[in-house]
Amino acid sequence: MMKLLLLWLCLFQADFLMYPAVISPQDPSLLIGSTLTVNCSVSADSNLKAEDLYWTLNGRRLLVETYRVLGPGTLSVTLSNLNGSQQQSGDNLVCHSKEGGSILAGTCLYVGLPPAKPTNISCWSKNLKDLTCRWAPGTEGETYLHTNYTLKYKLRWYGRDNTCQNYHTAGPYSCHIPKDLALFTPYEIWVEASNRLGVAISEVVMLDIVDVVTTDPPSDVHVSRVGDLEDQLSVRWSAPPALKDFLFQAKYQIQYRVEDSTEWKVVDNVSNQTSCRLAGLRPGTVYFVQVRCNPFGIYGSKKAGIWSSWSNPTAASTPRSGRTQGVCEPKSGEHNNTLRRELKQFFGWMRKHGSSYHCANLSIKMYDQWRVSLQKSHKTRNQVLSGDKS
Ligand SMILES: *[C@@H]1O[C@H](CO)[C@@H](O)[C@H](O)[C@H]1NC(C)=O
Ligand SMILES: *[C@@H]1O[C@H](CO)[C@@H](O)[C@H](O)[C@H]1NC(C)=O
Ligand SMILES: *[C@@H]1O[C@H](CO)[C@@H](O)[C@H](O)[C@H]1NC(C)=O
Ligand SMILES: *[C@@H]1O[C@H](CO)[C@@H](O)[C@H](O)[C@H]1NC(C)=O
Ligand SMILES: *[C@@H]1O[C@H](CO)[C@@H](O)[C@H](O)[C@H]1NC(C)=O
Ligand SMILES: *[C@@H]1O[C@H](CO)[C@@H](O)[C@H](O)[C@H]1NC(C)=O
Ligand SMILES: *[C@@H]1O[C@H](CO)[C@@H](O)[C@H](O)[C@H]1NC(C)=O
Ligand SMILES: *[C@@H]1O[C@H](CO)[C@@H](O)[C@H](O)[C@H]1NC(C)=O
Repeated sequence: MMKLLLLWLCLFQADFLMYPAVISPQDPSLLIGSTLTVNCSVSADSNLKAEDLYWTLNGRRLLVETYRVLGPGTLSVTLSNLNGSQQQSGDNLVCHSKEGGSILAGTCLYVGLPPAKPTNISCWSKNLKDLTCRWAPGTEGETYLHTNYTLKYKLRWYGRDNTCQNYHTAGPYSCHIPKDLALFTPYEIWVEASNRLGVAISEVVMLDIVDVVTTDPPSDVHVSRVGDLEDQLSVRWSAPPALKDFLFQAKYQIQYRVEDSTEWKVVDNVSNQTSCRLAGLRPGTVYFVQVRCNPFGIYGSKKAGIWSSWSNPTAASTPRSGRTQGVCEPKSGEHNNTLRRELKQFFGWMRKHGSSYHCANLSIKMYDQWRVSLQKSHKTRNQVLSGDKS
């Protein structure tokens, strides 16, 4: 029962006139540690008296020692050293009738802290089209009260204040400005935090969109073998297409790992090429490869740019190093295929002619027998063919 009450939204104020008693003050907001006295007054024409009343806070009955009868129809309760509200929508303080416990009136109680100054504002623009900012809610943390964060921005010098509209796009403390952004004029950006107990405004951050550009990860990453070099893989990708109309430079990073490891190795200095050869790899091993892009120097910006996220992993394996000394491997695939075909035929022949033999008894002797039979059949076929021709 108590659990259920705690889950109620605190919504008494909307229709408290329906209730047969009045609570004052209504919906107070207080700092943690405060002391509060609240009155419950039943109407004069009611046959209830102060002695017929009791209080609950979030469904829990409050101790009689905290009550005071202030008049024939008024009972007060005093709450001291208040804790932060158990729910941001407020605690439920309710005045009941002892007869059946019915609710006579209720109020919400907001106990918490004023917001702290938001900090650590950081912003990035994807392909110069938009702006996303993120911040931290300040050092004090929990306020116990619903706290609104508003990101505001204006063009420096002559702009007027704008309010960002799309919140929570990149985490709980973030906002996205999708369009109508100017390049080459710095913006002033700040965050206002407000709740029932106060307002706190962050420092103003100044930034130019061209200095905080990031882009999509390369979408077309190809990883391929370098001939039959068993310790190398070649990685190719293309420059971010969304930035092709802008003057910019790009640098890239590659990271790769073997299939059964979680540890990525980063190739840090790919600079502005769109391909790179990974060397010193393990032969016959599957590698996962990711690439990311940092577009910088947009229209001559001197800032470092912001790395994109990593591309989806692309996998490839290095060639196996099967070259045992003294064994002459067939070079071309055709030879390899020939060998495979012959073996297949051999095993077929085995099944037909060698049902009495076990696998363990496979011997070169049998292989020789098979070769002989093969040669015989070639001869007969050739004879048949040449016979047809004549
Ligand atoms: C509670 O009632 C007493 C006596 O009627 C009155 O003096 C006091 O101001 C009331 N308190 C509030 C918060 O309404
Ligand atoms: C505040 O919390 C403490 C510990 O959680 C508890 O003992 C105390 O009764 C609470 N005070 C109020 C006024 O609810
Ligand atoms: C803010 O950023 C600084 C340095 O970048 C970091 O040390 C600090 O932990 C951040 N604070 C929060 C609340 O994220
Ligand atoms: C927070 O924002 C909501 C909706 O925008 C508004 O109704 C509410 O009054 C605001 N609360 C505070 C404390 O500013
Ligand atoms: C490139 O990175 C490697 C290590 O990843 C480092 O040894 C080398 O000095 C770097 N070269 C340049 C030009 O930064
Ligand atoms: C890469 O950078 C070099 C010098 O830093 C420059 O000459 C070259 O044009 C650049 N290539 C691309 C594709 O941007
Ligand atoms: C034949 O080719 C396959 C791959 O097509 C390779 O794995 C195998 O090692 C080759 N065998 C020989 C004997 O060359
Ligand atoms: C292999 O063949 C020989 C005779 O050729 C026979 O004595 C032996 O038992 C066979 N071994 C197996 C495992 O079948």
